[in-house]
Order: sequence, then structure tokens, then C-alpha cells
Amino acid sequence: MLLGTIALRVGEEIQLVFQCPGREVDAKIEEIKALIGKDNLKLQQSDSHPLNVRSGNSMQPESSNQKQQKMKIIAVYHNKGGVGKTTTVVNLAATFSKKGKRVLASDMDSQANTTFGTGLIKFDDEELDDIKDCNILQVLQSEEFYPISEVARTSAFNTPELDVVPSHIDLMQYESELNQLDYCRLSLLDKLKEVATQYDIVLIDTPPALNLYARIALITADYVLIPSDLKPFANQGLKNVKDFIKKVDAFRRQINKEPLKILGVLACNISTNAAFGKSTFKKRREAITTRYDLLVMENVIYSREVLAKCCEETQVVRVGSC
Ligand SMILES: Nc1ncnc2c1ncn2[C@@H]1O[C@H](COP(=O)(O)OP(=O)(O)O)[C@@H](O)[C@H]1O
Ligand SMILES: [Mg+2]
Repeated sequence: MLLGTIALRVGEEIQLVFQCPGREVDAKIEEIKALIGKDNLKLQQSDSHPLNVRSGNSMQPESSNQKQQKMKIIAVYHNKGGVGKTTTVVNLAATFSKKGKRVLASDMDSQANTTFGTGLIKFDDEELDDIKDCNILQVLQSEEFYPISEVARTSAFNTPELDVVPSHIDLMQYESELNQLDYCRLSLLDKLKEVATQYDIVLIDTPPALNLYARIALITADYVLIPSDLKPFANQGLKNVKDFIKKVDAFRRQINKEPLKILGVLACNISTNAAFGKSTFKKRREAITTRYDLLVMENVIYSREVLAKCCEETQVVRVGSC
């Protein structure tokens, strides 16, 4: 016998006791972890929630009795800037990818921070800009050309690598022109359908605005995740977010697309100060549910000052002969 498991009833709860001879603990530790680990428990949860990920390489062909999961598109949106949208997109993309999911990140913010954060901006002089003519702008502008397969680039910022549709500062200046093109609202959605069997998850980073690009992201997505630092302006902005989603849903109805599913508010960049956590944070969290009728995710992304400062100390190292 490798392991023994006893189920004990303690009041209303069932306690599982794992038994293993002392000398075998070392050898069996992975097996024990697999039995009680978080990842394993997730396997038993419903797979309908896009943030429930299963470990394993989804690049592997699925057996006939494993249903092919539909590609899930998640927009990460809040109309306020600096609340953690880009940080969430980049880190979720890396996490999903490490879990074996085939990930595409699409940057729809003209600030191009996801494009930068995933290491696609390799030039330090605009003369060498190799993104200008092949980015999300052309995807939206062109009905026929610039499919995702041509525009997406492989980013090696993570292992395993993942794909990114880059953005560009030009996006800003073309907004009114694109506004005249009715089809551009559906360009990204249509082009993503062409790669639906190549990706499991698409994450869309959005601008801190109620503009055309944010609208397109929310029209395209199945789900929206709302990062927020829960500070007063971010909380007040949630009313705009909800009104904006309502307008997008009205458009989705016209194209027979079901309403956007709101995954909830993800608390980001939260102070680790104990007193803040006990009083202010608690009140701010509650306000989101009581005033804005939105769910707040249980997981909290705390502020990591030291890591944030590292970015300022980045040095570009060039390897090669030039
Ligand atoms: N958990 C965190 N800890 C420390 N700094 C963070 C954290 N999350 C975000 N930041 C920093 O806050 C700033 C804004 O985050 P960002 O993701 O760019 O927001 P947005 O995309 O909503 O504008 C960035 O400088 C980022 O590095
Ligand atoms: Mg951003």
C-alpha cells in the first residue's frame, strides 16, 4: 500500500488523514502534495470559470472524451489609470501560460505598456520602430488583411513563450478615423475567431478611458475583470464602468452576442499595512458590493514596492556583434 487515507467525522466536517510510513514520506511527497494540493482541488471545481485553470499542457492533442474547451476572451478593464490593469494582464498571461494554456495577450492601450512589459519593444530609437506598421491598429483598420496570425509576435519574457498583439502610440491619433468605420468594432472579434483553435485564453489590456478601444475590447470579450486599487476615485469610477458595460451590452444584443460576464473586482496594489487592512481596506471592499453591486474577488494583490522599484533600475543589455 502506498498511502492510506482515513476519513474522520469531526462535528459537521470530514477530516482526511493521510497515512504513510515515516521512511516513505520523502519518496511520496509529490504524491501527497498532489492529493492535497490546491491545483488538484481545482480539478474538481467547475471548469466554466475562466480563472479556473487546469495544469497540464493543452498543446497536447485531447483525447476524444475530453471536450475541446472554447477559447475564452477576458478584457481587463477599468476606466481609471494606474489601478493595475497592465500588471494583471502581464502576470495572468504568464500564469496561464505556465499552467499549460495557450495564451494570446492583446494590447489595446496606446500607452503600449503590455507591449513594453512583454519585451516586444526592442528599439530605443523611433527610426528603428518595427511595430508601427503591424500592430492592433492595422488589425482594427483592415477588414481583409492583418490577421492575428500575422500581427501577433512571440514574446520570450515568460517560459513558455506566449503571443502578444502589440499596440502603438499611433492608436491615439487614429481614433476618430476608426470611429467612422462601422466594421472596426467587430474586426478584432472576427479575426480572433480565425485563431479560436490556437489559443485557450485571450487577455485584452485596455486603455484607462471610455473610448472606442475600450468599447471594442468589451465587445470582443466574453468576460471582464476589473482591477482596482480600491482608492476613492477608483471606487467612484466603478459607476462609469458599469454604465459603459451596459451600453456595450446593448450593442452586443444587436449582434446577438450574450451580455458580458463580469468576473468581479480584483483588489490590486493594496497596502500591506496591518491597520489599513483591518479598517480602511475592509470598508472600501464592502463599498464595492453595497454601493456598486459588484463582486470583489477573494484574492488580493498586495503592493510589492521593492519589485515595482526594480523596473526603474532596468538596464538594457545588448548581446551580439555590432
Ligand atoms: N502589486 C503591485 N505592487 C507594486 N506596484 C504595483 C503593483 N501593481 C501595479 N503596480 C505599479 O503601479 C503602476 C500602475 O500599474 P499598471 O498595471 O500600469 O496600471 P494600469 O494599467 O491600470 O494603468 C505601475 O507602475 C505598476 O508597476
Ligand atoms: Mg495599463
